[in-house]
Amino acid sequence: MLFGNFVWEVLRRVVSPLICAFLPARHGCTGKFLPPYLITDMANTILVGAQWGDEGKGKIIDFLTEKADIVVRSQGGNNAGHTVIVGDTKYILHLIPSGILRAGKKCVIANGVVLDPIAVAKEIDGLREKKVKVTKANLLISDCAHLVLPYHRAIDEQRELKKGKNKIGTTKRGIGPAYGDKAARVGLRMSDLMQPELFSQKLKERVKENNAVLEAFGAKGVKFKEIEAEYLEAAEKLRPFVGNTVVYLHEALKAGKEILFEGAQGTFLDLDHGTYPYVTSSNTTAGGACTGSGVPPHRMDRVLGVMKAYTTRVGEGPFPTENDEFGDMLHGMGREFGSTTGRARRCGWFDAVATRYAGMVNGIDDIAVTNLDGLDSLATIKICTHYKRGNKKLEVPPSDMLQLTDCKPVYIEMPGWQTPTHEAKTFGELPPNAQAYLHKLAELTQAKLTIASVGPNREQTIVL
Ligand code: IMP
Ligand code: MG
Repeated sequence: MLFGNFVWEVLRRVVSPLICAFLPARHGCTGKFLPPYLITDMANTILVGAQWGDEGKGKIIDFLTEKADIVVRSQGGNNAGHTVIVGDTKYILHLIPSGILRAGKKCVIANGVVLDPIAVAKEIDGLREKKVKVTKANLLISDCAHLVLPYHRAIDEQRELKKGKNKIGTTKRGIGPAYGDKAARVGLRMSDLMQPELFSQKLKERVKENNAVLEAFGAKGVKFKEIEAEYLEAAEKLRPFVGNTVVYLHEALKAGKEILFEGAQGTFLDLDHGTYPYVTSSNTTAGGACTGSGVPPHRMDRVLGVMKAYTTRVGEGPFPTENDEFGDMLHGMGREFGSTTGRARRCGWFDAVATRYAGMVNGIDDIAVTNLDGLDSLATIKICTHYKRGNKKLEVPPSDMLQLTDCKPVYIEMPGWQTPTHEAKTFGELPPNAQAYLHKLAELTQAKLTIASVGPNREQTIVL
C-alpha cells in the first residue's frame, strides 16, 4: 500500500511535470502526455456549485485540498460563507480559500474577486486566533482584485429598500455595486490601495459621486476621511500578500502544480446563467474560473459539480421545488441556516432540471452530493425530473423569470432509507435505498457520482 502511494506520488509530482516540460502545449491540448486525470485524481479542477449556493462546497474543497497544491478563489466576495469543520473546530471562510486550513497549501485570491480589505484583514486575524498560520508563504492576493467600499454596501442596502417586496435578498455586502463599478470602469483596485496617495485621490472622487447617489435615495452619505483612514490601515496589513496572481499561477502550472479553483455561490446565482435578476453579480459557473484567474480554459482538466441531495436557496427569486414542510423538518434538525447572514434557507426537493442544466453550462464531469444525511428520516423522497408549464413539458429551465415562476415541478418518488447514514465510510455501507437515490441523482444530472458526503466532518466523506 505504502509502495503504491509512493509510485503514485512519483508519477504525479515527477513524471507528469517532466512530460509537461518536454511537450509544450498546443491549441486544444493540455500539453501533458496523458490526460492529467489519468495520472492523478486531482489535476486542475474547477469546483462549482450546481444549485443556488450553499451546496456544501467548503467541505468538499477542504477534502480535495489534501491532493491540491494551490487553491484559488476567482469570483464573488465576502457574500460567500464556506463552512469547514476540522476536528472540533468550525471555521467559516468568506474570502480566504479553504486551503488555508491545510499546511503547505498556497491560497490565491485572484483578480475576479471583489475584496473588502477590512473584511479580509479581520478574517486573517480570526484565523490566526484559531492558530491557523496565514503568511505570505500561503496567501497571495491579486493586485487586480476590485475593492468593496462602504458606499457599495450603502447603495446595496438602499437599492434593496427601494425595491421593497421585489428585493433580491442580497447579503448587503456591497457585491452588486462593486462589480457595477468594475464594469463601469470606475472601480478601485488593490493596486490603487497599495499606493496611498493615488488611492486617496481616487477615493475622494468616488465618494463625491456615490454620496450624490446616496442622497438621491434619501440616505446619509459616507465619510471620505473615515474610509481613507480605515482602508489605508488595512492596506498595510495586506501589503505583504499582494502581487501578480496571474504570473504566479502560470509559473505554478509550468512546474506541474495542481490547482483547485474553488467556486463560490452556485450556478443559478450566476450573473449570466442564473435566475436573473435574482442572482449575484459574478460568473459563478466554470468559465468564471478562467476569467477570474487568468488561467486559460485548456489548462483546466475537470469540472466537479457540488450539489446537495435536496435543494436550498437564500434570498428571493423563483424556486420551483420549494417545500415549506420539508424546510421546517430540516430547520427543526438545526440545519439550513445561512453561514454569512444567519438567515433560514428556503428548502425544497432535488431539482434535476436545474442540475442537468448546471451540468451543461459548467461542463460538469463529476458530481459530489452533500447533505445526504439530511434525508435520513424520510419515508419517501421526491425528485423533480422535469417541469410543466401549461401543457408543455420542459427539460431545461426557461430563462425568463416569470416563465420559471409559472413552472410546476413534476416528481418521481423514491423510497427513503430511514437509517442514519453519518457513520458510513464506504458506498457499500450506505443503505441500498440511499445508494439507489444517489445513483438516480447522477443519472438525471448526466454526470458521474464521485463523492457523497454524510456529515460536516472530513471523515464523513465517501469517495466512489
Ligand atoms: P449578493 O451576492 O449579496 O448581491 O446577493 C445576491 C443573491 O445571491 C442573494 O439571493 C443572496 O442570498 C445570494 N447569495 C450570495 N452569496 C451567496 C452564497 O454564498 N450562498 C448562497 N447564496 C448567496
Ligand atoms: Mg455558503
